[in-house]
Amino acid sequence: MAETTIDTHDTVEGEGGGEVRRRDFLEIAAVSAAGVGGLAVLYPLISQMAPSKDVLAESTTEVDVSAIEPGQAIKAVFRKQPVFVRNLTPAEIEAANAVPTGSLRDPQSLAERTKEGYENWLITMGVCTHLGCVPLGAGEGENKGEFGGYFCPCHGSHYDTAARIRKGPAPLNLEVPEYEFTSDTTVQIG
Ligand code: FES
Repeated sequence: MAETTIDTHDTVEGEGGGEVRRRDFLEIAAVSAAGVGGLAVLYPLISQMAPSKDVLAESTTEVDVSAIEPGQAIKAVFRKQPVFVRNLTPAEIEAANAVPTGSLRDPQSLAERTKEGYENWLITMGVCTHLGCVPLGAGEGENKGEFGGYFCPCHGSHYDTAARIRKGPAPLNLEVPEYEFTSDTTVQIG
C-alpha cells in the first residue's frame, strides 16, 4: 500500500516535472516562432517603406508647355495633386509686378515665384492653402477671382496673377513646387 502511494507520488512528481519541462519547451518554441514571425513581418514593412518603382516614377512630372498660349493654363498632376502651369500675358506680369511686395500677406515677388528667363511661366500647386480645395482659374472660362489669378470657391480666397493670396481666409500663396525647365518647352516638376 505504502509502496503504491510512494510510487504514485513519484509518478505524479515525475509527470508534473515532465509537464513543466514540456511547457517550458512549448513556451520557448512559441517565442522562437514569434521571433521568426516578427522578422517575417518586419521585412515587408521595411520593403514597403522603400519607395517602389511606381512611386519613384510618380515623384516627378514632365509637362510639355509648347501648346499653352499666353493667358492659358493647364492642370497637371504631381504626386497625385493638381498643379497649375500658366503662361502669363505681359499684362498679367505687369499687374503682378505693380503690387508692392511688402503689402502682401505672404510677401513674394513674381520673380521669386518663377525662374529667371521664364517669368511668364507660373507653376504652382493647385491646392488652396486654406483647407486644400482646388481653386478655379486654370480651366477655360473659370472664375479667376478679383485679382485675375485663381479663386477658391470653398471659402472665398482670391489669388492674384502670381498666385499670391490677396483676399479671403487662405494664409499663404499657392505653393510653388520644385521644378526646372529641361528645355524651352519642357518642365520637369519634382
Ligand atoms: S479651402 Fe480655399 S478658401 Fe477655404
